Amino acid sequence: MTLAPGKQQIRFIIKPMVFVLAILPLTLLCLRVLGIYGATLGPNPIETVQDYLGIWGLRFILISLSITPAAWLIKKPWPIRLRRMLGLFAFTYCSLHFLAWLVLDQSLDISAIISDVIKRPFITLGTLALLLLIPLAVTSTKGWQKRLGARWTNLHRLVYPAAVLICWHYYWQVKLDTIDALLYCAVLAVLLGVRLWKRKRL
Ligand code: HEM
Repeated sequence: MTLAPGKQQIRFIIKPMVFVLAILPLTLLCLRVLGIYGATLGPNPIETVQDYLGIWGLRFILISLSITPAAWLIKKPWPIRLRRMLGLFAFTYCSLHFLAWLVLDQSLDISAIISDVIKRPFITLGTLALLLLIPLAVTSTKGWQKRLGARWTNLHRLVYPAAVLICWHYYWQVKLDTIDALLYCAVLAVLLGVRLWKRKRL
């Protein structure tokens, strides 16, 4: 007896459920911004919006990176079918976090943007990470996967340095309480460590 869901169940039940769950944080943020639901945005609403999108970007990166180890753990390949959607959600949250900085924080002012990047190197790290994620989002389709063949897998390994840069970016900007940032770094270390361990065993 197999407990793995079939293709149709994944397509029509699991994927839509994951989609709704993944879009939920963004929906809740929109409701908060509009003052319809949830806590107020506090004394610094721009920072609240930016931090919220950044943390969800990081969470979705880590969730996407958990899919392969989860498939290894249950010895079933079906979770892999959720990876692309989760990866694209990660990219969406990261891009919105960047856009919030660009539009709300910097008001698209080029000189302010340049001086912020120079003054705060953690922003350079975030920018580098986002640049690494762009080719992954662009080539995430089945068409690109076919066209690139084995190179697709190599290209998508860019998610590892991107995730490291993101954790570093997070850790570097924390002023006082580093516990949360260190916890996210630890989760990433485990997810990367599991891959190294698996590689050595093969
Ligand atoms: C590539 C994906 C990125 C992710 C996942 C990410 C994630 C994060 C996280 C988790 C935080 C800390 C939130 C908190 O303190 O609760 C943060 C802060 C911040 N990020 Fe990013 N970041 C990314 C890229 C960028 C980029 C490209 C920029 C700008 C060019 C940027 C600008 C900032 C700024 C300004 C803050 C500090 C906001 C504040 O003052 O609290 N990030 N980011």
